[in-house]
Amino acid sequence: MSDSIKFILNDSVREVSGLPPTTTILQYLRMQERLTGTKEGCAEGDCGACTVIVGELAGDKASYQAVNACIVFLPTLDGRHIITVEHLKMNPVQKAMVSCHGSQCGFCTPGFVMSLSALLHNKSDASEENIQDAIAGNLCRCTGYRPILDAARAANKAEERHLASDVKTLKTVQRQKMFAYEDAGKKFFSPRTVKELAEILALYPEATLLAGGTDVGLWVTKQHLALNTIIYTGNVVELRQIGKTPAGLEIGGAVSYARAFDALAAYDESLEELLRRLGSTQVRNLGTVGGNIANGSPIGDGMPPLIALQAKLVLRSKEGARTLPLEDFFLAYRKQDKKPGEFVEKIIVPAKPKNVLFKTYKISKRFDQDISAVCGAFALTMKGNIIESARIAYGGMAATPKRTAKTEKVLLGKKWTEETVRQAMAAMPEDFLPLSDMRASAEYRATVAANLLYRFYLETTDAKTATRVYNYAED
Ligand SMILES: Cc1cc2nc3c(=O)[nH]c(=O)nc-3n(C[C@H](O)[C@H](O)[C@H](O)COP(=O)(O)OP(=O)(O)OC[C@H]3O[C@@H](n4cnc5c(N)ncnc54)[C@H](O)[C@@H]3O)c2cc1C
Ligand code: FES
Ligand code: FES
Repeated sequence: MSDSIKFILNDSVREVSGLPPTTTILQYLRMQERLTGTKEGCAEGDCGACTVIVGELAGDKASYQAVNACIVFLPTLDGRHIITVEHLKMNPVQKAMVSCHGSQCGFCTPGFVMSLSALLHNKSDASEENIQDAIAGNLCRCTGYRPILDAARAANKAEERHLASDVKTLKTVQRQKMFAYEDAGKKFFSPRTVKELAEILALYPEATLLAGGTDVGLWVTKQHLALNTIIYTGNVVELRQIGKTPAGLEIGGAVSYARAFDALAAYDESLEELLRRLGSTQVRNLGTVGGNIANGSPIGDGMPPLIALQAKLVLRSKEGARTLPLEDFFLAYRKQDKKPGEFVEKIIVPAKPKNVLFKTYKISKRFDQDISAVCGAFALTMKGNIIESARIAYGGMAATPKRTAKTEKVLLGKKWTEETVRQAMAAMPEDFLPLSDMRASAEYRATVAANLLYRFYLETTDAKTATRVYNYAED
Protein backbone atom coordinates (compact mmCIF):
# COMPACT_ATOMS: atom_id res chain seq x y z
CA MET A 1 0.00 0.00 0.00
CA SER A 2 1.28 3.45 -0.88
CA ASP A 3 1.92 6.12 1.75
CA SER A 4 0.81 9.66 1.01
CA ILE A 5 3.43 12.42 0.94
CA LYS A 6 3.17 14.23 4.26
CA PHE A 7 4.76 17.63 4.78
CA ILE A 8 4.12 21.17 5.99
CA LEU A 9 3.34 23.76 3.34
CA ASN A 10 3.84 27.20 4.86
CA ASP A 11 1.63 26.88 7.96
CA SER A 12 -0.47 23.80 7.29
CA VAL A 13 0.07 20.07 6.92
CA ARG A 14 -0.50 18.48 3.53
CA GLU A 15 -1.02 14.81 2.66
CA VAL A 16 -0.65 14.32 -1.08
CA SER A 17 -1.17 11.31 -3.33
CA GLY A 18 -2.23 10.65 -6.92
CA LEU A 19 0.71 12.52 -8.49
CA PRO A 20 3.67 10.93 -10.31
CA PRO A 21 6.75 10.62 -8.04
CA THR A 22 8.70 12.81 -10.48
CA THR A 23 6.29 15.74 -10.05
CA THR A 24 8.55 18.66 -9.16
CA ILE A 25 7.82 20.89 -6.19
CA LEU A 26 7.42 23.74 -8.66
CA GLN A 27 4.75 21.88 -10.67
CA TYR A 28 2.94 21.00 -7.46
CA LEU A 29 2.98 24.55 -6.09
CA ARG A 30 1.82 26.18 -9.29
CA MET A 31 -0.61 23.59 -10.66
CA GLN A 32 -2.09 22.00 -7.51
CA GLU A 33 -1.83 24.73 -4.89
CA ARG A 34 -2.00 27.67 -7.30
CA LEU A 35 0.82 29.30 -5.35
CA THR A 36 2.14 31.08 -8.41
CA GLY A 37 4.58 33.39 -6.62
CA THR A 38 7.19 30.71 -7.28
CA LYS A 39 8.18 31.16 -10.94
CA GLU A 40 9.53 28.90 -13.65
CA GLY A 41 12.37 30.41 -15.67
CA CYS A 42 14.60 27.58 -16.86
CA ALA A 43 13.43 24.33 -15.18
CA GLU A 44 17.07 23.28 -14.79
CA GLY A 45 18.38 24.95 -11.64
CA ASP A 46 20.08 27.84 -13.43
CA CYS A 47 17.99 30.98 -12.92
CA GLY A 48 16.73 30.85 -9.31
CA ALA A 49 13.22 32.11 -10.16
CA CYS A 50 11.75 29.01 -8.50
CA THR A 51 13.70 29.34 -5.23
CA VAL A 52 11.82 28.10 -2.16
CA ILE A 53 13.02 27.34 1.35
CA VAL A 54 12.92 23.79 2.67
CA GLY A 55 13.28 22.96 6.34
CA GLU A 56 13.99 19.70 8.07
CA LEU A 57 14.39 18.51 11.64
CA ALA A 58 17.95 18.61 12.91
CA GLY A 59 17.73 17.27 16.47
CA ASP A 60 15.42 19.58 18.37
CA LYS A 61 15.73 22.38 15.86
CA ALA A 62 14.78 22.88 12.24
CA SER A 63 17.31 23.84 9.58
CA TYR A 64 16.18 25.83 6.53
CA GLN A 65 17.86 26.15 3.14
CA ALA A 66 17.10 27.71 -0.22
CA VAL A 67 16.64 25.18 -3.04
CA ASN A 68 15.50 25.16 -6.68
CA ALA A 69 11.88 23.91 -6.68
CA CYS A 70 12.07 23.12 -10.42
CA ILE A 71 14.38 20.11 -10.03
CA VAL A 72 13.26 18.68 -6.66
CA PHE A 73 10.76 15.83 -6.74
CA LEU A 74 7.73 16.26 -4.47
CA PRO A 75 8.09 12.97 -2.51
CA THR A 76 11.46 14.18 -1.16
CA LEU A 77 9.44 16.74 0.84
CA ASP A 78 7.96 13.96 2.98
CA GLY A 79 8.71 14.85 6.62
CA ARG A 80 9.87 18.37 5.70
CA HIS A 81 8.60 21.97 5.77
CA ILE A 82 8.40 24.06 2.62
CA ILE A 83 8.15 27.85 2.76
CA THR A 84 7.08 29.81 -0.31
CA VAL A 85 7.15 33.54 -0.97
CA GLU A 86 3.42 33.80 -0.14
CA HIS A 87 4.28 32.99 3.50
CA LEU A 88 6.72 35.84 4.14
CA LYS A 89 4.29 38.77 4.64
CA MET A 90 6.62 41.72 3.98
CA ASN A 91 9.72 40.62 5.81
CA PRO A 92 12.87 42.85 5.91
CA VAL A 93 14.09 41.55 2.53
CA GLN A 94 10.79 42.37 0.82
CA LYS A 95 10.69 45.82 2.41
CA ALA A 96 14.27 46.52 1.32
CA MET A 97 13.51 45.34 -2.24
CA VAL A 98 10.76 47.97 -2.35
CA SER A 99 12.74 50.81 -0.79
CA CYS A 100 15.90 50.11 -2.84
CA HIS A 101 13.95 49.67 -6.12
CA GLY A 102 15.19 46.07 -6.44
CA SER A 103 12.34 44.94 -8.68
CA GLN A 104 11.30 46.00 -12.18
CA CYS A 105 9.20 43.42 -14.08
CA GLY A 106 9.16 41.33 -10.89
CA PHE A 107 9.63 37.90 -12.45
CA CYS A 108 12.89 37.15 -10.65
CA THR A 109 11.92 38.96 -7.44
CA PRO A 110 10.33 36.09 -5.43
CA GLY A 111 13.44 33.98 -6.11
CA PHE A 112 15.79 36.72 -4.89
CA VAL A 113 13.59 37.30 -1.84
CA MET A 114 13.67 33.61 -0.94
CA SER A 115 17.45 33.31 -1.41
CA LEU A 116 18.09 36.38 0.74
CA SER A 117 15.53 35.39 3.38
CA ALA A 118 17.32 32.04 3.76
CA LEU A 119 20.62 33.90 4.07
CA LEU A 120 19.33 36.21 6.80
CA HIS A 121 17.84 33.25 8.66
CA ASN A 122 21.14 31.34 8.63
CA LYS A 123 23.68 34.17 9.10
CA SER A 124 23.43 36.64 11.95
CA ASP A 125 25.65 39.13 10.14
CA ALA A 126 26.17 38.24 6.49
CA SER A 127 29.39 39.42 4.84
CA GLU A 128 29.49 40.94 1.35
CA GLU A 129 30.83 37.58 0.12
CA ASN A 130 27.92 35.76 1.82
CA ILE A 131 25.43 38.10 0.12
CA GLN A 132 26.95 37.65 -3.32
CA ASP A 133 27.15 33.87 -2.87
CA ALA A 134 23.50 33.74 -1.75
CA ILE A 135 22.26 35.30 -4.99
CA ALA A 136 24.86 34.00 -7.47
CA GLY A 137 22.22 31.46 -8.55
CA ASN A 138 19.51 34.09 -9.19
CA LEU A 139 19.30 35.85 -12.53
CA CYS A 140 17.62 39.20 -13.22
CA ARG A 141 17.28 40.38 -16.77
CA CYS A 142 15.91 43.88 -16.22
CA THR A 143 16.51 45.54 -12.85
CA GLY A 144 20.27 45.03 -12.77
CA TYR A 145 22.07 43.71 -9.74
CA ARG A 146 23.14 46.96 -8.05
CA PRO A 147 19.72 47.79 -6.52
CA ILE A 148 19.22 44.15 -5.54
CA LEU A 149 22.58 44.11 -3.77
CA ASP A 150 21.65 47.40 -2.07
CA ALA A 151 18.44 45.76 -0.87
CA ALA A 152 20.38 42.76 0.43
CA ARG A 153 22.79 45.01 2.35
CA ALA A 154 19.90 47.03 3.79
CA ALA A 155 17.99 43.89 4.84
CA ASN A 156 21.16 42.54 6.43
CA LYS A 157 20.90 45.32 9.04
CA ALA A 158 17.50 44.07 10.21
CA GLU A 159 17.17 42.55 13.64
CA GLU A 160 14.10 40.50 12.81
CA ARG A 161 15.64 37.96 10.42
CA HIS A 162 14.34 34.49 11.29
CA LEU A 163 11.79 32.45 9.41
CA ALA A 164 8.90 31.13 11.45
CA SER A 165 10.10 27.59 12.00
CA ASP A 166 7.66 24.96 13.18
CA VAL A 167 9.52 22.23 15.04
CA LYS A 168 6.42 20.98 16.84
CA THR A 169 4.48 20.31 13.64
CA LEU A 170 7.61 19.00 11.90
CA LYS A 171 7.83 16.32 14.57
CA THR A 172 4.29 15.20 13.74
CA VAL A 173 5.18 14.50 10.08
CA GLN A 174 8.18 12.24 10.83
CA ARG A 175 7.93 8.51 10.04
CA GLN A 176 8.89 5.48 12.06
CA LYS A 177 9.41 3.31 8.98
CA MET A 178 10.56 3.58 5.37
CA PHE A 179 8.42 5.91 3.23
CA ALA A 180 7.04 4.05 0.18
CA TYR A 181 5.00 5.95 -2.39
CA GLU A 182 3.46 4.72 -5.63
CA ASP A 183 1.43 6.26 -8.43
CA ALA A 184 0.34 4.47 -11.62
CA GLY A 185 3.05 1.83 -11.17
CA LYS A 186 5.87 4.34 -10.59
CA LYS A 187 7.54 3.80 -7.23
CA PHE A 188 9.45 5.99 -4.80
CA PHE A 189 11.21 4.65 -1.68
CA SER A 190 12.91 6.62 1.04
CA PRO A 191 14.87 4.27 3.33
CA ARG A 192 16.17 5.58 6.68
CA THR A 193 19.19 3.35 7.28
CA VAL A 194 22.00 1.86 5.22
CA LYS A 195 20.53 -1.59 5.89
CA GLU A 196 17.12 -0.55 4.51
CA LEU A 197 18.81 1.08 1.51
CA ALA A 198 20.88 -2.03 0.72
CA GLU A 199 17.79 -4.24 1.00
CA ILE A 200 15.47 -2.15 -1.13
CA LEU A 201 18.20 -1.68 -3.77
CA ALA A 202 18.76 -5.44 -3.84
CA LEU A 203 15.02 -5.81 -4.52
CA TYR A 204 15.07 -3.13 -7.25
CA PRO A 205 18.63 -3.19 -8.66
CA GLU A 206 17.50 -1.21 -11.73
CA ALA A 207 16.11 1.63 -9.60
CA THR A 208 17.44 5.17 -9.98
CA LEU A 209 19.23 6.32 -6.85
CA LEU A 210 18.34 9.90 -6.04
CA ALA A 211 20.37 12.16 -3.74
CA GLY A 212 20.09 15.94 -4.32
CA GLY A 213 18.59 15.45 -7.78
CA THR A 214 20.68 18.23 -9.35
CA ASP A 215 21.60 15.78 -12.10
CA VAL A 216 18.63 13.35 -11.93
CA GLY A 217 16.05 16.17 -11.79
CA LEU A 218 17.20 17.39 -15.20
CA TRP A 219 16.86 13.90 -16.72
CA VAL A 220 13.13 14.41 -16.13
CA THR A 221 12.65 18.16 -16.72
CA LYS A 222 14.95 18.41 -19.75
CA GLN A 223 15.38 14.91 -21.20
CA HIS A 224 11.83 13.80 -20.30
CA LEU A 225 13.02 10.40 -19.10
CA ALA A 226 10.48 8.22 -17.31
CA LEU A 227 11.88 6.85 -14.06
CA ASN A 228 10.06 3.71 -12.96
CA THR A 229 11.52 3.25 -9.50
CA ILE A 230 13.37 5.85 -7.46
CA ILE A 231 15.26 5.20 -4.24
CA TYR A 232 15.98 8.42 -2.33
CA THR A 233 19.12 8.56 -0.15
CA GLY A 234 18.33 11.91 1.48
CA ASN A 235 16.91 10.37 4.67
CA VAL A 236 19.53 7.62 5.18
CA VAL A 237 21.06 8.55 8.53
CA GLU A 238 24.52 7.03 8.00
CA LEU A 239 24.87 8.52 4.51
CA ARG A 240 24.29 12.01 5.87
CA GLN A 241 27.18 11.95 8.33
CA ILE A 242 30.55 13.67 8.16
CA GLY A 243 33.29 12.11 10.27
CA LYS A 244 36.46 14.05 11.09
CA THR A 245 39.48 12.28 12.59
CA PRO A 246 43.23 13.07 12.59
CA ALA A 247 43.48 10.51 9.74
CA GLY A 248 41.13 12.54 7.56
CA LEU A 249 37.56 13.06 6.59
CA GLU A 250 34.71 10.63 5.93
CA ILE A 251 31.90 12.12 3.87
CA GLY A 252 28.69 10.11 3.71
CA GLY A 253 27.27 9.41 0.24
CA ALA A 254 24.32 11.79 0.76
CA VAL A 255 26.19 14.75 2.31
CA SER A 256 25.51 17.93 0.37
CA TYR A 257 28.27 20.25 -0.81
CA ALA A 258 26.91 22.89 1.56
CA ARG A 259 27.30 20.60 4.57
CA ALA A 260 30.72 19.32 3.50
CA PHE A 261 31.90 22.85 2.66
CA ASP A 262 33.75 23.81 5.86
CA ALA A 263 35.49 20.46 6.24
CA LEU A 264 36.62 20.35 2.59
CA ALA A 265 37.50 24.04 2.42
CA ALA A 266 39.91 23.50 5.32
CA TYR A 267 42.31 21.74 2.93
CA ASP A 268 43.18 24.86 0.99
CA GLU A 269 41.69 28.17 -0.04
CA SER A 270 41.78 27.08 -3.70
CA LEU A 271 39.45 24.19 -2.82
CA GLU A 272 37.22 26.64 -0.94
CA GLU A 273 36.99 28.80 -4.07
CA LEU A 274 36.26 25.78 -6.25
CA LEU A 275 33.40 24.76 -3.95
CA ARG A 276 31.99 28.30 -3.89
CA ARG A 277 31.92 28.16 -7.68
CA LEU A 278 30.30 24.72 -7.91
CA GLY A 279 26.74 25.47 -9.01
CA SER A 280 24.98 28.04 -6.82
CA THR A 281 23.96 28.15 -3.15
CA GLN A 282 20.67 26.43 -4.07
CA VAL A 283 22.52 23.71 -6.04
CA ARG A 284 25.10 23.19 -3.27
CA ASN A 285 22.30 22.89 -0.69
CA LEU A 286 20.90 19.98 -2.70
CA GLY A 287 23.78 18.42 -4.65
CA THR A 288 25.99 15.86 -2.94
CA VAL A 289 29.65 14.89 -3.23
CA GLY A 290 28.51 11.26 -3.65
CA GLY A 291 26.11 12.20 -6.47
CA ASN A 292 28.84 14.12 -8.29
CA ILE A 293 31.09 11.03 -8.17
CA ALA A 294 28.39 8.47 -8.99
CA ASN A 295 27.21 10.59 -11.92
CA GLY A 296 30.74 10.24 -13.31
CA SER A 297 30.70 13.29 -15.54
CA PRO A 298 34.14 14.04 -17.02
CA ILE A 299 33.57 17.70 -16.10
CA GLY A 300 32.36 17.17 -12.53
CA ASP A 301 34.33 19.45 -10.21
CA GLY A 302 34.54 17.17 -7.19
CA MET A 303 36.75 14.51 -8.72
CA PRO A 304 40.07 16.20 -9.67
CA PRO A 305 40.82 17.53 -6.15
CA LEU A 306 39.59 14.36 -4.45
CA ILE A 307 41.72 12.18 -6.73
CA ALA A 308 44.78 14.39 -6.15
CA LEU A 309 44.16 14.12 -2.39
CA GLN A 310 44.10 10.28 -2.64
CA ALA A 311 40.43 9.92 -1.75
CA LYS A 312 38.94 6.44 -1.48
CA LEU A 313 35.42 5.38 -2.28
CA VAL A 314 33.41 2.95 -0.15
CA LEU A 315 30.74 1.11 -2.13
CA ARG A 316 28.17 -0.97 -0.30
CA SER A 317 25.50 -3.50 -1.26
CA LYS A 318 23.49 -6.12 0.59
CA GLU A 319 26.53 -8.40 0.20
CA GLY A 320 28.89 -6.05 2.06
CA ALA A 321 31.28 -3.18 1.38
CA ARG A 322 34.40 -2.69 -0.74
CA THR A 323 36.85 0.20 -0.85
CA LEU A 324 38.70 1.41 -3.92
CA PRO A 325 40.85 4.39 -4.87
CA LEU A 326 38.52 7.02 -6.32
CA GLU A 327 40.45 7.21 -9.60
CA ASP A 328 39.79 3.48 -10.24
CA PHE A 329 36.02 4.05 -10.13
CA PHE A 330 35.96 5.74 -13.55
CA LEU A 331 36.29 3.11 -16.28
CA ALA A 332 35.21 4.91 -19.47
CA TYR A 333 32.87 7.73 -20.51
CA ARG A 334 29.97 7.59 -18.02
CA LYS A 335 30.93 4.00 -17.14
CA GLN A 336 31.79 3.47 -13.51
CA ASP A 337 32.93 0.41 -11.54
CA LYS A 338 29.55 0.03 -9.81
CA LYS A 339 27.73 -3.30 -9.69
CA PRO A 340 23.92 -3.64 -9.56
CA GLY A 341 22.79 -3.22 -5.97
CA GLU A 342 25.83 -1.11 -5.01
CA PHE A 343 25.70 2.48 -3.78
CA VAL A 344 28.26 5.05 -2.66
CA GLU A 345 28.35 4.72 1.12
CA LYS A 346 31.12 7.23 1.79
CA ILE A 347 34.17 9.02 0.51
CA ILE A 348 37.33 8.91 2.61
CA VAL A 349 39.68 11.87 2.17
CA PRO A 350 43.02 11.39 3.98
CA ALA A 351 44.40 14.31 5.97
CA LYS A 352 46.90 16.39 3.98
CA PRO A 353 50.41 16.01 5.45
CA LYS A 354 52.39 19.21 5.97
CA ASN A 355 54.90 18.32 3.26
CA VAL A 356 52.20 18.17 0.56
CA LEU A 357 51.77 21.15 -1.75
CA PHE A 358 48.18 21.29 -3.00
CA LYS A 359 46.04 23.55 -5.19
CA THR A 360 43.00 23.17 -7.40
CA TYR A 361 41.67 25.47 -10.13
CA LYS A 362 38.44 25.75 -12.10
CA ILE A 363 38.39 27.38 -15.54
CA SER A 364 34.93 28.24 -16.87
CA LYS A 365 33.45 30.93 -19.08
CA ARG A 366 31.63 32.59 -16.17
CA PHE A 367 33.03 32.88 -12.67
CA ASP A 368 29.82 31.83 -10.89
CA GLN A 369 27.33 29.09 -11.65
CA ASP A 370 29.11 27.61 -14.67
CA ILE A 371 30.39 24.17 -15.60
CA SER A 372 34.18 23.79 -15.98
CA ALA A 373 35.93 23.76 -19.32
CA VAL A 374 38.94 22.44 -17.40
CA CYS A 375 39.37 21.69 -13.71
CA GLY A 376 42.85 20.79 -12.47
CA ALA A 377 44.18 19.65 -9.10
CA PHE A 378 47.80 19.25 -8.07
CA ALA A 379 49.35 17.54 -5.04
CA LEU A 380 53.12 17.17 -4.67
CA THR A 381 54.70 15.38 -1.72
CA MET A 382 57.99 17.13 -1.01
CA LYS A 383 61.20 16.09 0.73
CA GLY A 384 63.02 19.36 1.05
CA ASN A 385 62.87 20.78 -2.46
CA ILE A 386 62.67 17.35 -4.11
CA ILE A 387 59.37 15.99 -5.43
CA GLU A 388 58.85 12.60 -3.81
CA SER A 389 55.46 11.88 -5.35
CA ALA A 390 53.08 13.71 -7.67
CA ARG A 391 49.34 13.42 -8.15
CA ILE A 392 47.83 15.61 -10.85
CA ALA A 393 44.21 15.15 -11.95
CA TYR A 394 42.07 16.96 -14.48
CA GLY A 395 38.44 17.16 -15.42
CA GLY A 396 37.40 18.22 -18.92
CA MET A 397 40.50 16.76 -20.57
CA ALA A 398 39.36 13.19 -21.27
CA ALA A 399 36.29 10.95 -21.19
CA THR A 400 36.69 10.54 -17.43
CA PRO A 401 38.35 12.51 -14.65
CA LYS A 402 41.97 11.44 -15.17
CA ARG A 403 45.48 11.56 -13.72
CA THR A 404 48.54 12.55 -15.75
CA ALA A 405 50.82 9.48 -15.63
CA LYS A 406 53.48 10.84 -18.03
CA THR A 407 53.59 14.34 -16.57
CA GLU A 408 53.82 13.00 -13.02
CA LYS A 409 56.74 10.73 -14.02
CA VAL A 410 58.70 13.71 -15.30
CA LEU A 411 58.34 15.41 -11.91
CA LEU A 412 59.44 12.51 -9.71
CA GLY A 413 62.75 12.91 -7.91
CA LYS A 414 63.35 16.37 -9.41
CA LYS A 415 63.74 19.75 -7.75
CA TRP A 416 60.58 21.91 -7.89
CA THR A 417 62.06 24.51 -10.19
CA GLU A 418 61.14 26.47 -13.32
CA GLU A 419 63.10 23.97 -15.43
CA THR A 420 61.23 21.00 -13.95
CA VAL A 421 57.80 22.55 -14.40
CA ARG A 422 58.62 23.42 -18.04
CA GLN A 423 59.66 19.79 -18.69
CA ALA A 424 56.43 18.55 -17.11
CA MET A 425 54.32 20.97 -19.17
CA ALA A 426 56.02 19.71 -22.33
CA ALA A 427 55.12 16.11 -21.41
CA MET A 428 51.42 16.83 -20.83
CA PRO A 429 50.25 16.34 -24.46
CA GLU A 430 51.27 12.68 -24.07
CA ASP A 431 48.67 12.33 -21.32
CA PHE A 432 45.66 13.89 -23.03
CA LEU A 433 43.90 14.34 -26.33
CA PRO A 434 41.08 16.70 -25.23
CA LEU A 435 37.88 17.32 -27.20
CA SER A 436 36.53 20.54 -28.67
CA ASP A 437 32.99 21.39 -27.59
CA MET A 438 30.81 24.38 -26.75
CA ARG A 439 32.81 25.04 -23.57
CA ALA A 440 36.30 25.15 -25.12
CA SER A 441 38.39 24.00 -28.05
CA ALA A 442 40.88 21.14 -27.73
CA GLU A 443 43.77 23.62 -28.19
CA TYR A 444 42.43 25.89 -25.45
CA ARG A 445 42.04 22.98 -23.05
CA ALA A 446 45.56 21.66 -23.73
CA THR A 447 47.09 25.12 -23.28
CA VAL A 448 45.16 25.94 -20.15
CA ALA A 449 45.89 22.57 -18.54
CA ALA A 450 49.64 23.08 -18.94
CA ASN A 451 49.37 26.69 -17.78
CA LEU A 452 47.50 25.64 -14.63
CA LEU A 453 50.50 23.49 -13.71
CA TYR A 454 52.68 26.55 -14.20
CA ARG A 455 50.31 28.62 -12.07
CA PHE A 456 50.57 25.95 -9.38
CA TYR A 457 54.35 26.27 -9.59
CA LEU A 458 54.20 30.06 -9.24
CA GLU A 459 51.75 29.91 -6.35
CA THR A 460 53.81 27.39 -4.41
CA THR A 461 57.12 29.16 -4.96
CA ASP A 462 58.34 32.71 -4.68
CA ALA A 463 58.14 33.58 -8.38
CA LYS A 464 60.78 36.35 -8.28
CA THR A 465 63.57 34.37 -6.70
CA ALA A 466 62.22 30.91 -7.54
CA THR A 467 62.58 30.03 -3.86
CA ARG A 468 59.75 27.90 -2.62
CA VAL A 469 57.47 29.54 -0.10
CA TYR A 470 56.77 26.15 1.41
CA ASN A 471 58.84 25.79 4.57
CA TYR A 472 60.53 22.42 4.45
CA ALA A 473 62.04 22.99 7.89
CA GLU A 474 58.59 21.77 9.04
CA ASP A 475 59.06 18.34 7.39
C1 LIG B 1 22.39 24.62 -12.14
C2 LIG B 1 23.39 23.53 -11.93
C3 LIG B 1 24.73 23.85 -11.82
C4 LIG B 1 25.67 22.85 -11.64
N1 LIG B 1 26.98 23.20 -11.53
C5 LIG B 1 27.90 22.25 -11.34
C6 LIG B 1 29.27 22.60 -11.21
O1 LIG B 1 29.64 23.77 -11.24
N2 LIG B 1 30.16 21.58 -11.04
C7 LIG B 1 29.78 20.28 -10.99
O2 LIG B 1 30.63 19.41 -10.82
N3 LIG B 1 28.49 19.92 -11.09
C8 LIG B 1 27.55 20.87 -11.27
N4 LIG B 1 26.24 20.52 -11.40
C9 LIG B 1 25.88 19.09 -11.41
C10 LIG B 1 25.43 18.52 -10.05
O3 LIG B 1 25.07 19.55 -9.15
C11 LIG B 1 26.51 17.68 -9.38
O4 LIG B 1 26.94 16.65 -10.20
C12 LIG B 1 26.02 17.13 -8.02
O5 LIG B 1 27.12 16.86 -7.21
C13 LIG B 1 25.15 15.90 -8.18
O6 LIG B 1 24.75 15.48 -6.89
P1 LIG B 1 23.24 15.13 -6.56
O7 LIG B 1 23.21 14.74 -5.12
O8 LIG B 1 22.35 16.22 -6.96
O9 LIG B 1 23.06 13.85 -7.47
P2 LIG B 1 21.73 13.23 -8.11
O10 LIG B 1 21.25 14.07 -9.22
O11 LIG B 1 20.76 12.87 -7.07
O12 LIG B 1 22.38 11.89 -8.69
C14 LIG B 1 23.43 11.93 -9.67
C15 LIG B 1 23.83 10.51 -10.04
O13 LIG B 1 24.41 9.85 -8.94
C16 LIG B 1 23.65 8.67 -8.60
N5 LIG B 1 23.71 8.59 -7.15
C17 LIG B 1 23.36 9.54 -6.24
N6 LIG B 1 23.68 9.14 -5.00
C18 LIG B 1 24.24 7.92 -5.11
C19 LIG B 1 24.79 6.98 -4.18
N7 LIG B 1 24.82 7.22 -2.86
N8 LIG B 1 25.31 5.82 -4.67
C20 LIG B 1 25.31 5.56 -6.01
N9 LIG B 1 24.78 6.39 -6.92
C21 LIG B 1 24.27 7.56 -6.47
C22 LIG B 1 22.29 8.88 -9.20
O14 LIG B 1 21.61 7.68 -9.46
C23 LIG B 1 22.67 9.63 -10.48
O15 LIG B 1 23.14 8.71 -11.43
C24 LIG B 1 25.26 21.50 -11.57
C25 LIG B 1 23.90 21.17 -11.65
C26 LIG B 1 22.98 22.18 -11.83
C27 LIG B 1 21.53 21.82 -11.92
S1 FES C 1 13.17 27.62 -12.89
FE1 FES C 1 15.21 28.34 -13.16
S2 FES C 1 16.21 27.57 -11.40
FE2 FES C 1 14.26 26.69 -11.31
S1 FES D 1 13.00 42.40 -12.26
FE1 FES D 1 12.66 41.65 -14.26
S2 FES D 1 13.92 39.88 -14.32
FE2 FES D 1 14.47 40.81 -12.49
